[in-house]
Parts: sequence; structure tokens; C-alpha cells
Amino acid sequence: MGSTRRIAVSLTALLAVIACSPSDGAAAPTPAKPVAEDAGAPGIGDADFPLDGNGGYDVAHYGLRLDYDPGKRHLNAAAAIQAKATQRLSRFNLDLAGFDIGGVSVDAREATYSRSGDELTVIPAQPLAKGAKFTVKITYSGSPQPIKDATNLGTYGWITTSDGAFVVCEPNGAKTWFPANDHPADKARFDFEITVPQGLTALANGEMTAKPETSGGKTTFTWREKHPMVTYLATATLGRFELREGRTTSGIANLVAVDPEFRSSLDRLYTVSGQVTDYWSTVFGPYPFSSTGGVVDNFPAGYALENQTKPMYGGFDPDEGIIAHELAHQWFGNSLSVRRWRDLWLNEGFATYAEWLWHEHRGKSRAQQVFDNFYARPATDPLWGYPPGRAKPKDLFNESVYTRGAMTLHALRTEIGDGAFFRLIRQWNADHRYGHVTTAQFVALAEKVSGKQLDRLFDAWLFQPRRPAA
Ligand code: TRP
Ligand code: ZN
Repeated sequence: MGSTRRIAVSLTALLAVIACSPSDGAAAPTPAKPVAEDAGAPGIGDADFPLDGNGGYDVAHYGLRLDYDPGKRHLNAAAAIQAKATQRLSRFNLDLAGFDIGGVSVDAREATYSRSGDELTVIPAQPLAKGAKFTVKITYSGSPQPIKDATNLGTYGWITTSDGAFVVCEPNGAKTWFPANDHPADKARFDFEITVPQGLTALANGEMTAKPETSGGKTTFTWREKHPMVTYLATATLGRFELREGRTTSGIANLVAVDPEFRSSLDRLYTVSGQVTDYWSTVFGPYPFSSTGGVVDNFPAGYALENQTKPMYGGFDPDEGIIAHELAHQWFGNSLSVRRWRDLWLNEGFATYAEWLWHEHRGKSRAQQVFDNFYARPATDPLWGYPPGRAKPKDLFNESVYTRGAMTLHALRTEIGDGAFFRLIRQWNADHRYGHVTTAQFVALAEKVSGKQLDRLFDAWLFQPRRPAA
């Protein structure tokens, strides 16, 4: 792969050539199918995010080899992506923001490519047949840049810290550090090989597959997430960290890492993460992954992301509520993922309701009290104007998606009773483990498990721009 040359082909030039193919005169041979017909779409089909993800293939595995120099903020990287063509492909796209590309190959044959915005178009030497499995390898280097203030989403992606990087990518920041089919509708397994200056630690999803190896002043960490994962949950957070490792009471591997500035958070994060993981396993069903834990870094984000197996907490000492929230996402969001961003309440409403359940479990407050407090907000409150069942692309993480989403679940629980409600939640997880979910599927299962007609309840809570009747 290191030997591939750089050949950038302009798409317009390519299309111009095709437009001039011989087609005049009866004797002319049947023109080859135009390239465009066999092209993979530049988006995966989420109308709210038209260029996120790509069409025409499914990724099975990302193998990412990263060498990062925090002093120079420079990343040298190679990605090997195993995928399957879901149509004949004369070319296909990946999402990638920035970087110089060293070379691209498909099935070990040099490929040409072009770039436009965050779309990288790969043109294999020969078209891929429908159903073909293929491997695309890309070498790239440069200084990763996070995405800033994109339509109310804040800063996300590869975020530089004083000693490394804090990598949190929801909804579409994976492309700031690797070429990706960057949309939750395409899950894949991941292997990471991350090299950093000796003395630093690189943290990725899943478990370490070997002891870190040091040579020539650099240390390489290898991590594997063997369960399917969406791209925004991938991380390669790196820097100075103190670690605590062990198992939860029920036996799940637990790894917590904190920036030395947050040394005092280490033990509580370790203990509470273990307790929460074990408790959710009894409430939601078996833990879907092979390890749990969390990371506190010194980037003052003030928020957290539910990175698979290792939630990232940005610059604060996490309390029980937020730990309960991020670990609930391991079931809701990570194991069960949205196919379209508009259904985000299936992640955030559930994780927020989990916070209420955790406080209930700890005897701190009843979910009913929390619900009542929000319900008491005046009819003019923005919560009532924003229907959470349709997350808006320009305001994806609106408070309503979280709070009114959680209220929807509480209203449902009140309507169908605790027995049916918690059976539903476990069935929901069992039915869609490692897969994708939609709101319609949840409504259908709720009606099936409870034996009740619930369309009016869900419509009022999820889709109407007003406060539902009590
Ligand atoms: N999903 C996160 C949570 O519920 C919030 C979030 C949205 C986020 N986009 C992000 C966190 C980007 C970090 C980076 O806690
Ligand atoms: Zn959340």
C-alpha cells in the first residue's frame, strides 16, 4: 500500500470523457453503461444529512493504524476498510475531512480518487460486482481538525488537548480522523493500532489485544471492538492518563482512565461505572459488550459522549446521573442504533429516563416526581413546542429530545404498568441487539407487549407541538 502513487482524477473531467464516448452512428458499438449509473451515492439516504454516509456498500471492518505526534498535532495514518458492495460499483465514496492522501488501493490494486468537500470518491481499477467483498486501503496524513459550531452541535471530532486528543464524534465527526461511511446506519467492527510518544496512553473502544509495546521512544496500543459499532462512537482519545482496571461485581471487565488533573475522580468513576453496568444488565437485559468503564479527559467540553465500552467525559468530575446516562446508551444508541437521526429520542429519551430510574433505584427521587416537575412547566415553555419524535437536523440535541423523550417513556410506563413496561424494555433490547431501530418499531412492540392501543399516547407525546393532556 505504501507504493501506491497519488492520482487524483477530477470527476468533471471523467464525466466529460464519458459524455464524449462514441454513440453517434448506427455502427457504433453499444456504449458502456455510463459510470454514473454504477456510482455509489454520496449519502446513505438520511434526508436530514444528505451527504453523511454513502450508498452502494456496507462496511464490515475498519482497521485503523494511527501514529499521532501531539507536539506537532500531526497524524500519520493508514485505514484498511473491508466492505461488501450492495450494487455494482464503478466508484464509491467515503467521508473524510481534511488530510493529504498518500494513496488509495482497492483489493491491493491502485485506485484513483477525487475529493470534493468531505466526499472522497474512490475509483477502483475495475468496477466491483454487486455482492463483492472488497478491501480499500487509504494512507493519509495531516493535522486533524474538529468540526466547530456546525448547526448547534458544538465542537466535536478530533479535539486537541494540552497533552493529546479528546475524540468524540457524534453525529458525524468520525471523518475528522478516518475515512468512514460516517452515518449510524452502517455498523462495523474495529481494530485500532495507535502509536504515541512514550509516556502517553492511547484509549480506544473494546479491549486491548496485546500489551503496549515501546520502542524508539514510542508506544503502540492495540484495541479491538469486536461487536458492531457506529462510526460516531469510535474513539482514539490519547494523552496522559491514570488507569484503574478490574471487574464489576458481576464479572464484566471495567477500565477507567482519568487525566491526572482528575485523579480524584478515578475511584468513584470506577466504582459507579461498575455498579451502573451491573444494574442496567438486570433492568435492560445482558450487557451487550465485552467491557465497560469510562474516561475523564482535561478538555473542558462540559459534556460527555457514550463511546462504545468507554464513555468520554470532557473536563468534569462525572456524577452518578451522567454515568447512568452514558452507560444506558450502551444499550440504547450503541447496541440498538438509530437508522435515521430524526429518531434520536430512541437514544436520548431512553438514556435520560435511565437517569430517573437510577435516582429511583438509589432512593433519591421518584421518576414520577421528576416527570411532574417538568410537566408543571407553562404551556409556553419550548419543551412543548418541539415534538421530540422528530429531531430536527438544525437542532438535533434539543432539550425536548432528552426530557420530553424521557417523559414519553414515563407516560407509557404509567399507562401500561411496571410489569409490561420493563418486559417491553428487555424485549426491545433482545429483539434488536447490535442492530437498528425506528420509532414505529418501538410503538408496535409496546402495543404487542401491553396488548393496548397506544398510537394516541405516542402521537401526543412525540409528534404534537403542544403539551399533551394529563
Ligand atoms: N450523546 C451525548 C449525550 O447524550 C451528547 C452529545 C451530542 C455529544 N453530540 C456530542 C457529546 C458530541 C460529545 C460530542 O450525552
Ligand atoms: Zn445521551
